Amino acid sequence: MSGSVLVAPSLLAADFADLGAEMARAEAAGADWHHVDVMDGHFVPNLTIGPPVVAALARRAAVPLDVHLMIERPAEWAERYAEAGADRLTFHYEAAADFPAALEAFAATGRPVGVAVDPPCGVEPLRPFLDRIDLVLVMSVKAGFGGQSFRPEVLAKVEQLRSWGFAGRIEMDGGIDDRTAPRCRAAGADVLVSGSWLFGREDMAAGVATLRGGPA
Ligand code: DX5
Ligand code: ZN
Repeated sequence: MSGSVLVAPSLLAADFADLGAEMARAEAAGADWHHVDVMDGHFVPNLTIGPPVVAALARRAAVPLDVHLMIERPAEWAERYAEAGADRLTFHYEAAADFPAALEAFAATGRPVGVAVDPPCGVEPLRPFLDRIDLVLVMSVKAGFGGQSFRPEVLAKVEQLRSWGFAGRIEMDGGIDDRTAPRCRAAGADVLVSGSWLFGREDMAAGVATLRGGPA
C-alpha cells in the first residue's frame, strides 16, 4: 500500500449548473482527483452525464478526472470515455458480461484500470486478475445515488485485498465523512471519494485534510 491517502470529491454533489467553478473550488481545497459519476439509467436507476460533459470537464480540470462508470456494457464505452478526457476509468465488475474481455478493453485505453464492486459483490472473483487491475473501488453504498449511509461490512473486503498483497489503490465511495474515513484508512483504503459531506463543508480544504488524515 502506498503511504499517501488521496481525496477525490464527487462532483455528483456539486452544482451542476456551475461545474467549472465547483471543480476550481475542489482544486483550491486540495482535491487530488475529481470523481465523476457516470450513470446510465440502466445499470443504476439514476442518470447523470455522458462523454460530452466529461469532455467539457476535462478541458477545465487541473487535476485528474477519476471517472466511475455505472453503466451497462462498459467495455463498449471504454475508448469513448478515454477519448473524452477521462484520466482514470473504473467500471463495475457486475456490469461486465465477459470480465476478462472488459479488462482488456480498458487496458487498451492506456488509462489505469479500475474495477468497482457494489456491497453484495465479494472481491474473490477479482483475485485471479489483480495483477491486471490498478485500482479496486470498494463501494460503501449501493451505486446510484449520493447521500446514502456508509455500510461498514464492506471494510472486510478492503482488508481481504490487502491480505492478498494487493498493492494497487483501493478506493472507497459512498457515505465517506469525518467519522467513516478513519475506518476506511485503517482497513487499507487509500483513495477516499466524498460527495455530500465534502461539498457541504463551508471550509472544504479542512474537510479534505480531515479525510486525508495524518498530520495537517
Ligand atoms: C454513488 C456515487 C458516489 C456518490 C457519493 O453511486 O458513486 O460517488 O457521489 O456520494 P456521498 O459521498 O454523498 O455518499
Ligand atoms: Zn462514484
